[in-house]
Amino acid sequence: MSKKDLVSIYDLGVEEISALLEEAFRLKSKKKYLDVFKGKALGMVFEKPSTRTRVSFSAAMIQLGGLPVSLESENLQRKRGESIQDTAVVLSSYLSGLVIRTFRHCDIEEFAKYSKIPVINALSDKEHPCQSLADIMTIMELHGAKTIEDLKKVKIVYIGDSNNVANSLLAISAVLGLNFTLVSPQQYLPKKDILDKASEYISLSKAEIKITSDIDEIKDADVVYTDVWISMGYENEKKNRKRIFMPYQVNKELLKKTSSKCIVLHCLPAIRGDEITAEVMDKYRYSIFTQAENRLHSQKAILLHFL
Ligand code: CP
Ligand code: NVA
Repeated sequence: MSKKDLVSIYDLGVEEISALLEEAFRLKSKKKYLDVFKGKALGMVFEKPSTRTRVSFSAAMIQLGGLPVSLESENLQRKRGESIQDTAVVLSSYLSGLVIRTFRHCDIEEFAKYSKIPVINALSDKEHPCQSLADIMTIMELHGAKTIEDLKKVKIVYIGDSNNVANSLLAISAVLGLNFTLVSPQQYLPKKDILDKASEYISLSKAEIKITSDIDEIKDADVVYTDVWISMGYENEKKNRKRIFMPYQVNKELLKKTSSKCIVLHCLPAIRGDEITAEVMDKYRYSIFTQAENRLHSQKAILLHFL
């Protein structure tokens, strides 16, 4: 049987996403440890820092009976020039799967091309697919949506930088046919290739997608989602970005425009006082930390599906 990768949300169809979510909810409600991965090892390559993704994948693998192997890029021969191709072939003969966080999305694609084992994107400059599965799980859970059809009635607004997290949310909304608005300053709206890809799926799914710089489009939102203004790898743009993004901050005033049942989400880590105020973080800690917890359950479902 040929292996399957999770490099992009577009690697998943509607039925696959539904099955993953169902499995994640089942695992969350049972909280039972399994030994399905006994004797198996999951490699985890991290070129960038990570708290949630690294630890939740490690815990998920252990709770499913397997072993996570941390492959910090500093300690791999890649650092001394070994090719992705050779690394991927060698690691495929030791491991059952590879979780990879890189700067360049194309590096994950190259790993996937040469690996004989499933490759899972743990964040790249372009996408964060594991995050958006946990996000959708959280929105369903907290808005009481039992099915994707129920979920279509929820107005989801992402406000801030059109980064990897936003791209994956746009992608999953386009695939599932959701009501999704992305609000970003003009010069930080999604790039053409991201929009073109989403458009292909929107015409099939009939998703209600709005891409805008108009902050008032947050009106009647049932979910307000934000992420850092300076993603890993963009630190040199810090000064400009802070100034441009400040009007897009998630604060008490902004949330007055939303629906009465609105929840706030943040993939974390958050910079309190930048994209979200400390006051809003504290008020919505239940939804934000449920979202973080759901990374564990949804990634267990991912491991069971892909490995
Ligand atoms: N949300 C997220 O991916 O967090 P980490 O960077 O801590 O993994
Ligand atoms: N957009 C952020 C997400 C961190 C989980 C980054 O890439 O740094």
